[in-house]
Amino acid sequence: MPAFSWPSRYGVVEQSFHWLTLLLVVAAYLLSVGGSEARLYSDALDFQRRMHETAGVTVLGVTLLRLVWRTIDNQPKSPPMPLWMEISGQLMHWTLYLLLLAVPLTAIIGVWLAGHPLTLVSANNIGPWLAPAHDLGATIIEIHTWAGDAILWLVGLHAGAALFHHFILRDTVLTSMLPASFVRPRSPGDSPVKR
Ligand code: HEM
Ligand code: HEM
Repeated sequence: MPAFSWPSRYGVVEQSFHWLTLLLVVAAYLLSVGGSEARLYSDALDFQRRMHETAGVTVLGVTLLRLVWRTIDNQPKSPPMPLWMEISGQLMHWTLYLLLLAVPLTAIIGVWLAGHPLTLVSANNIGPWLAPAHDLGATIIEIHTWAGDAILWLVGLHAGAALFHHFILRDTVLTSMLPASFVRPRSPGDSPVKR
C-alpha cells in the first residue's frame, strides 16, 4: 500500500494518522478525570490523570505531524455527490482538526494558568510555564471539558456520515479510509498522486 494518497483513497500514512487519532481520542476521553481540583490531583487518581494527559498530548503531536503531512500529500477525489454534501464534509473535517488542536491546547494552557504542571506518564512534570491566574485557568479547563465532549459528539456524527455513504449511498467515501484488503481492485489509471 503506497504512502501517498491515490485519487480514489487515502495512502497508508494518512490512514495511520486517522485511525491512531481515533484510538488516542477515545483513550483520552475514557481516561478523563472529573470533579474537584483536590480529587483531580489526589494520589489515587495520579496515574489515570497522567494517562489522560499523555494520550491528549500525543493527540496534539500526531495532529501537528498530520497537518504537515497533509501539505505534501494530495487528498483523494470525492465520489460524485451534491455540493452541499461535499461542503459539509469539508466543514466537518476542518472543525475536527480545529478541535484536535484546541482540546489539548486549552487543557495545557488551563492547567498552567491554574498553577499545575503538565503531568505525563514516565516523564518529568512540565511547567507551569505561564504566570498564575487561577480563575482564568479554571474557566479555560472548563472550556476544555466541553470541547472534549464536543469532539466525541462530532466524531459520532462524522462516523455516522461515513456509514451512510457506505451503506445507503454505496459510494467509496468509507473505503477510501480503509486498508487495501477492504477495497475492490482499482481501475488501471488509478496511481499514487504526489505534488
Ligand atoms: C484529545 C484530547 C483530550 C480529550 C478528548 C479530553 C477530554 C476531557 C474531558 C471529556 C474531560 C472532562 C472530564 C469530566 O469532567 O468528567 C477532561 C478533563 C480534563 N482534562 Fe482532558 N482531554 C484531552 C486532552 C487533555 C490534555 C492534553 C490535558 C493536559 C493538561 C488534559 C487535562 C485535563 C484535565 C486537568 C481535566 C480535568 C478538568 C476538570 O474536570 O476539572 N486533557 N478532558
Ligand atoms: C477521533 C476520531 C476521528 C477523527 C478526529 C476523524 C477526523 C477525520 C478528518 C480530520 C478527516 C479528513 C482527512 C483529510 O482530508 O485531511 C477524516 C476523514 C475520514 N474519516 Fe474520520 N475521524 C475520526 C473517526 C472516524 C471514524 C470512526 C470513521 C468511520 C467509521 C471515520 C471515517 C472517515 C472517512 C471515511 C474519511 C474520509 C472522508 C472523505 O475523504 O470524504 N472517521 N476523519
